[in-house]
Amino acid sequence: MIRSNGVAPASRDTLLGGLSIDGARLWDALAALGEIGAFDDERSGLRGVNRLALTDADAAGRRHVVAAMRALDLELTVDRIGNVYGRRRGTDDALAPVMMGSHIDSVPTAGRFDGCLGVLGGLEVLRTLADHGVVTRRPLVVAFFTDEEGARFGTDMLGSAVAAGRLPLEAAYALADRAGLTVHGELERIGFLGTAPERLSPPHAYVECHIEQGPTLRQAGVDLGAVTGVQAISWHEVTIVGKSAHAGTTPMELRHDAGVACAKINLGLRTLIASGRFGPGFRATMGAIVPHPGLVNIVPGRLVCTVDLRNPDDALMRAAEQAVLALYEDVSRDEGVSVTWRQTARTNHVPFAEAIQARVTSAAAARGLSVRSLVSGAGHDAQELAHLCPAGMVFVPGEFDGISHNPREFSTPEQCTNGVNVLLDVVLDLAAEA
Ligand code: GLV
Ligand code: MN
Ligand code: MN
Repeated sequence: MIRSNGVAPASRDTLLGGLSIDGARLWDALAALGEIGAFDDERSGLRGVNRLALTDADAAGRRHVVAAMRALDLELTVDRIGNVYGRRRGTDDALAPVMMGSHIDSVPTAGRFDGCLGVLGGLEVLRTLADHGVVTRRPLVVAFFTDEEGARFGTDMLGSAVAAGRLPLEAAYALADRAGLTVHGELERIGFLGTAPERLSPPHAYVECHIEQGPTLRQAGVDLGAVTGVQAISWHEVTIVGKSAHAGTTPMELRHDAGVACAKINLGLRTLIASGRFGPGFRATMGAIVPHPGLVNIVPGRLVCTVDLRNPDDALMRAAEQAVLALYEDVSRDEGVSVTWRQTARTNHVPFAEAIQARVTSAAAARGLSVRSLVSGAGHDAQELAHLCPAGMVFVPGEFDGISHNPREFSTPEQCTNGVNVLLDVVLDLAAEA
């Protein structure tokens, strides 16, 4: 690293000890992006965020972040899946960059931190370097990836999975939302169908700062998390077809009720968890249930629901998936309905590079922050980047038991500042490497 004003390069230790981000500026940036797609949540009285991927609100958020990248003089690239990269030159500019990033799309009921902290934190790191006239040896890139949430088109980590080569571009383009609108069409409509090749050439390393989205760190009173990896994820879309009938006239013994079958599957998932056969970390959720026609006096003849399975252990996840398929068969037979399913997302447990975990831990310790290692319960873009380069994450605790995907999602300015300061330290270290 050198100082761009031609002054002799300061030693790395001096700079690591001396550079800190501007926490108030980071907070303001989170607030400003959080106003894009914001809504007043009547129940909580709080302001939530709805920037579902590739909607007009997502487009507005994208333009806002692109403007911030331009203000930092970053070289911009938009690839064919709509991932956006802002690159800052290094003194050894031909070297592979150190990348930071995350996502700015949200679930429809979000807060303002999920994903945004990693993207705006990355930009705050670059602002801090610019303030101090520091140019790193390796170039630095801040990325935001398309549709990390998967809440609209059904597949999570979409843009980063394409960039890492796990998901073919054409398969991603063809995904459609419930209204039949496709990823390709929506990328084109919002003006983010880029021309750069979607396959990312491997960065030197990738580091993402993100809220934990769970209670562990806050309950332990720990300042930060060094993430060991991301657990396995398996998503199913399940379609149950029975027989629609009049609620008042149809004798119970003649019914083939898709709603009852769905309820049995949901409770069956609980029974599988309670059996303990699939480990203490196994989780199962039926998050969406859409009955047809969905009316008070009609036995639902058709129902589409989702099943989300998580497990930190790959072998136990495979066993759990087999048990869930057997559950579908049992319910189908017992209720006289058809149960079909399709896999909408599937990732194995992804371990993060130990070298990056160690850097997060030592950077936190050097700042006098307590740190704990933990596996991520949520999916993240970093797990896709981990297929290309050493990758890792810094977790920031969340208040209110780390509630997330909810307007109550909240981390304090201090918690966010701590996380991004450690991001800065780790990135400076990595960017100095030959
Ligand atoms: C991403 O938010 C996930 O579902 O884990
Ligand atoms: Mn996220
Ligand atoms: Mn999320």
